[in-house]
Amino acid sequence: MDVVSSLSDLKTVRLSLDGTVGLVPTMGYLHEGHLSLVSRAKAENKNVIVSIFVNPTQFGANEDLSKYPRDLERDLNLLSSLFPPSSEQKLVVWTPSDEIMYPHGYQTWVEVEALTKVLEGSMRPGHFRGVTTIVAKLFNATQPDKAYFGQKDAQQVAVIRRMAVDLNFPLEVIVCPTQREADGLALSSRNKYLNEAERKAATVLFRSLSAAKELYEKGERDGENLRRKMKEVLEGEPLAQMQYVSCTDYDTLEELDVVKGKALLSMAVFLGKTRLIDNFILG
Ligand code: PAF
Repeated sequence: MDVVSSLSDLKTVRLSLDGTVGLVPTMGYLHEGHLSLVSRAKAENKNVIVSIFVNPTQFGANEDLSKYPRDLERDLNLLSSLFPPSSEQKLVVWTPSDEIMYPHGYQTWVEVEALTKVLEGSMRPGHFRGVTTIVAKLFNATQPDKAYFGQKDAQQVAVIRRMAVDLNFPLEVIVCPTQREADGLALSSRNKYLNEAERKAATVLFRSLSAAKELYEKGERDGENLRRKMKEVLEGEPLAQMQYVSCTDYDTLEELDVVKGKALLSMAVFLGKTRLIDNFILG
């Protein structure tokens, strides 16, 4: 495993890599969800690059960047366990600084339009501009053949897929299934903020999505009825405060009256001060 920080070190090591490269962009504080992306990248590529960078521009003014969990040593230990010294494959971990990614006088942004105005984008103005800008920069610097993202952040995936097509990035965006705890809670670095009661209540996202999916599987295709079912389950959990539920087209993220092709059920819910998101794909 090579750990590099500067752009010139990254460039040197990137030039030395022989064969395909899979990129896993992360903000660190890795959990099983990230590790499943790394394992998939390892299975599909000769080399894997994992970037660890807590991207300040995707945090809103009311979202506490300084409190975002960080533990590089723990992250490196987890990653090295997937690439033992005997491994023929190479892992490069890139840990750039804020100054490298946003040099003094920074003023260049990548923005996907309509897709970022709804759902998470409407609640977190500027968030996706920060995500697409940093991901474009990571793509440029690492030149991957494939880049791996989790379905847990469904809108992020839709936005990055759009950006990759629109900007002709010569790579494949691979979307990997959401990893869950045994009781259904989707893995997220934010779960660590939940107290015991909130942690128990947090299964309500999975229960609510499952109830709507069950309706869909019984033949329900009315978008409003599916949204109503999700709300009903969320309202049954006193510790949960719903921010939105939605039933949209999978690609365009437009709210659906009738579900025809591939659709996305998604939601954002507060448990105390912690905001959790989750989603299921239909069809
Ligand atoms: O999903 C994340 O962790 C981040 O949004 C990403 C893709 C690493 C960009 O900072």
